[in-house]
Amino acid sequence: MRIVVITDTHGRLHIVNNLVRELDADVVIHCGDIGLMSHKRVSKISNRELSLHIRHSSLDDAVRRNAFDLPRSEKIRIVLEHNLLGEFDRYLEGEETFVIPVYAVWGNHEDGFLLNQLLSGDLSIPNLNFLTAYSDIVLDDWIRLTGVGGNLVPPNLFTKQQPTHPKPQMSFLDWARLAEVLEHTHDNEQQLWMVTHVSPGKEPLLENFSLHLRPDFWFSGHMGAPLLQHYSLFTYLDDYEFYLRYQQQYQYYKALWDEKIGSNSSERNGFHEDEVELMRRWHGLLECPITPSEDAYLPDKVESRTSANYTKGTMFFNLPDAYYGGYLVIDTNPTDRSFEFQTYGQWTPPVQRK
Ligand SMILES: [Fe+2]
Repeated sequence: MRIVVITDTHGRLHIVNNLVRELDADVVIHCGDIGLMSHKRVSKISNRELSLHIRHSSLDDAVRRNAFDLPRSEKIRIVLEHNLLGEFDRYLEGEETFVIPVYAVWGNHEDGFLLNQLLSGDLSIPNLNFLTAYSDIVLDDWIRLTGVGGNLVPPNLFTKQQPTHPKPQMSFLDWARLAEVLEHTHDNEQQLWMVTHVSPGKEPLLENFSLHLRPDFWFSGHMGAPLLQHYSLFTYLDDYEFYLRYQQQYQYYKALWDEKIGSNSSERNGFHEDEVELMRRWHGLLECPITPSEDAYLPDKVESRTSANYTKGTMFFNLPDAYYGGYLVIDTNPTDRSFEFQTYGQWTPPVQRK
């Protein structure tokens, strides 16, 4: 099976079918910022979002430079005149269609109203499927796909996210649901592939979730990396170092939990009682599963430091933007469960050599 993984199309949706045809792919995984926007809803789109569409367009430099300073009416005029919200309208109107199944999480630059309509079934786009705790997607009988969409905004982790929020975010409830579903349904004979928009490499909380949920592969986007970034935690830190790296974040999230969801809190932050119960059941996801020992970091304890191998569990892939031509192709071989990877991106050094 040939799987193309892409991210951050930001409305340039023709890229998807072009790649599928060029690479003869069977399935697409999309890590978010699809470009779920409609010109019909331009009046509802935030000023910042309009400015970003102008800034990242191919219009004249002068217009792009001033994108954030223009009056709103001018931004709307430019966006409409140059069709800057992208091609999703063509899919909404049935003029275009994805030629093979696309399994996607949503990013932070989608219109939450449209997203909510798609998730609730009020709108549907053939072959566009969203990955959530409840999506039950298995590729080739041995690869279970799952995912959590939206941005991670730490102060909002324990606040219920309204589905129509203009900048979609994840909450801890998404992870509690996912953990609950996996506990009851995951088949250990299958691989588990996780998809998020946010990069776990930037959010140790997500890396900590990986130590609990043990996905085999984890794909993400959002960062605008010039080429595929590929790592396992093990390649640069061991279990004890991860524990140290995560501790401050754990203290932060624990305090936030106590404030928002803790037993004395009468505020439910928009969650129903059963949702609070589910989050309480999975509170342990926030904790680092590694038990530290005082001397674990001494050089002569290397053997015992690495013995638990928590950090070897997951391979992380952060994708370059499809918007700029980046992608990853995975050829899977179910017979021996091997993989072949090809990737493409454009390397533009962030710092010029002298
Ligand atoms: Fe993003």
